[in-house]
Amino acid sequence: MCDGAAGMSEAVVEVRRVSKSFDWRRPVLRDVSFSLRRGEMVALIGASGSGKSTLVRAIAGLVPIDKSATGDDLGAATGEIVLFGEPMQRRGRITRAAKRLRVRIGVVFQQFNLVPRLSVLTNVCLGLLGQMSFFHGSIGRFTAVDKRRAMQALVRVGIADQALKRGAELSGGQQQRAAIARTLVQRAELLIADEPIASLDPSAARRVMDILADLNRCDRITVLVSLHQVEYAALLPAHHRASIRRGRLRRPVKRADAGAADVDLRRRQ
Ligand SMILES: Nc1ncnc2c1ncn2[C@@H]1O[C@H](COP(=O)(O)OP(=O)(O)O)[C@@H](O)[C@H]1O
Ligand SMILES: [Mg+2]
Repeated sequence: MCDGAAGMSEAVVEVRRVSKSFDWRRPVLRDVSFSLRRGEMVALIGASGSGKSTLVRAIAGLVPIDKSATGDDLGAATGEIVLFGEPMQRRGRITRAAKRLRVRIGVVFQQFNLVPRLSVLTNVCLGLLGQMSFFHGSIGRFTAVDKRRAMQALVRVGIADQALKRGAELSGGQQQRAAIARTLVQRAELLIADEPIASLDPSAARRVMDILADLNRCDRITVLVSLHQVEYAALLPAHHRASIRRGRLRRPVKRADAGAADVDLRRRQ
């Protein structure tokens, strides 16, 4: 176990008055604001279609947000997303800083995180691409040092014995763990996981949530994880949960029977 995180202060994610409409009649995100400080872990909980993926993708700079917030009384408030103090999105555009910012963010999706034909080790090494020159990255040759780093990451997530298998040969839970290992190799400061446990059985889901919590607690990686299972979110303290419903953020999540956790997801403050 680790000693727990030191004090938190710096805002890693600032989402300010963010709206998003693919179709102007039905906004997917409605005036969403929240912030995440360094070392925090927050679960974003919402039913299917509530806007979780859109929000997560907007933070990662993969989906442009609307130029202004939507709503009756909001006027022309412009939304923005600031990461590590630098704008990722502003005035409805993904900024030029996006490329630089993305190197600092590890993203884990619900599925299809690995290149199926490549070995697990190579998949994890792909986390290094953002730090490599275009030439070295494009020839896809990783050094012994790179591979050692990838192996250490696989040890950390408990699947070192799977390193030489192809991505496609892993179970769903192992694939998610390899995807998390890739973000470790990347040295991501912010880990965004969009429903990483939605396709997993309960024990694999628990394992993945444990790993996320451990990386948060021991490595001070800031974690934003979207979930539709309230049971898992309930393992986090109330102030580390936010619920999203029809594109509106509400926090914290109400759950009467929270606390039956046998996993220590609590942060030491
Ligand atoms: N690229 C898109 N084009 C049009 N509508 C979209 C697009 N992406 C998401 N939506 C719609 O936005 C809503 C929220 O979707 P999403 O963010 O994927 O929710 P969640 O991840 O919570 O299931 C859904 O109604 C979905 O159909
Ligand atoms: Mg989704």
